[in-house]
Amino acid sequence: MVTVSGQNTAVEMAGRFKQIVGESYVLADDESRNHYGHDETEQLLYLPDVVIKPRTAAEISAIMKICNEHRIPVTPRGAGTGLSGGALPHLGGVLLSTERLNTILNIDERNLQVTTEPGVITEVLQNAVKAKGLFYPPDPSSRGSCFIGGNIAENSGGPKAVKYGVVKDYVLNLEVVLPNGEIIWTGANVLKNSTGYNLTQLIVGSEGTLGIVTKIVLKLIPLPAHDLLMLVPFKSLEKAGEAVSAIFRAGFIPSGLELVEIDALKIVSEMVDSHVVAVSDDIEAHLLIEVDGNNPDVLMQEIEAIATLLQQFDAGEILFADDAQQKAELWKLRRRVAEAVKLAGYTIEEDTVVPRAELPALIRGVKKLGKEHNFHAVCYGHAGDGNLHVRIKKEGTANSLEDADMIESLRALFKLVYQLGGTISGEHGIGLIQKSYMDIVFAQENLTLMRSIKKAFDPNNILNAGKIFDMK
Ligand code: LAC
Ligand code: ZN
Repeated sequence: MVTVSGQNTAVEMAGRFKQIVGESYVLADDESRNHYGHDETEQLLYLPDVVIKPRTAAEISAIMKICNEHRIPVTPRGAGTGLSGGALPHLGGVLLSTERLNTILNIDERNLQVTTEPGVITEVLQNAVKAKGLFYPPDPSSRGSCFIGGNIAENSGGPKAVKYGVVKDYVLNLEVVLPNGEIIWTGANVLKNSTGYNLTQLIVGSEGTLGIVTKIVLKLIPLPAHDLLMLVPFKSLEKAGEAVSAIFRAGFIPSGLELVEIDALKIVSEMVDSHVVAVSDDIEAHLLIEVDGNNPDVLMQEIEAIATLLQQFDAGEILFADDAQQKAELWKLRRRVAEAVKLAGYTIEEDTVVPRAELPALIRGVKKLGKEHNFHAVCYGHAGDGNLHVRIKKEGTANSLEDADMIESLRALFKLVYQLGGTISGEHGIGLIQKSYMDIVFAQENLTLMRSIKKAFDPNNILNAGKIFDMK
């Protein structure tokens, strides 16, 4: 693979990298290059020249200094669960894995904060704080394998975001290695901060283009004591979409409000061999609705009131989860949808988000585009946030980058999203696969401003170059 420019390639520098991190943590064999050459995005593979697995910020700093001097492209990577290609080393060069920075450093029970390294699995972190009665809500579907660092890079969301917010709402302070090797802290470990530009929030969601996060301070909240969960079938997908905004207008804030279209539910039920949901032919979609809090009686009243309200939208017979096992089964079905539909040939995933009340219009538009452009789409996602994942299957089209007709279809979809007041990614990021659509949602002035921010951090354009936008 090619490097951007410069006298020395990543391979030529391998000896120096080995001096920094140790012989066994610099890999250039085919198997490693293949493994780190893909993430969960569509079916894309780009081989890095060298894979490096540092252990500390100081080591990352030393690596970045060399790469900056020799203009070697560096692609940072967490667990490789991303869906927009942010961790794909499309320029070759160095693939820098944060997997060895995997320690939870401190759970501060006095202040309800946790300090962690980026290579900790999100669910491991959630369980560690839960053991102390604390709650870190952002929980992408991949929480059992994704890293907290990757969640910060993409500003991930997940089902709890509808009540508790997304990653950015929990990040207080970050230690970051800049592209030139300098190490900074972005803020302070405080809940309020009006001190200068908000570098912390600039790094959150910057997809590894501005710096490499090496320590993270997160806000925690008390763990709610109870939750209730129900699965509600709808005869019409659009009506399910309409019901979503009605729930909030009636005064409820569920802790989860997820939509799954019937084809996706059938596919995932089969994959995990689950029979918990009886799928009948007259149902088009389900809403999975959770409420949580500390008073079980109040929760029961709330969930019953929501169930009554939903009758106005032609809801079918509701399944109330009886116990922890049934709740876990329903959540498992929801969390594994993406994996299941991808295996079933829905290789192209979009992460559209619109104002909540526009969901029915978005759903209608997706189905219409499918007919016009000859693809099949299944919809699922975080309906409570207006965040709809649209998974597309089209005969002979494995990815969205090369097929002109697919590119045209996606432009039409994103234009619709924009017309509805939405945008093209709610939680997966732009990465590699969506950068050519940024012009739909941003004026040139916005993109020029973003490029100048990138330039201020990374004048030589070595860190995750060509992600989010090209520098031109
Ligand atoms: C989900 C991931 C794909 O919602 O964002 O399942
Ligand atoms: Zn999602």
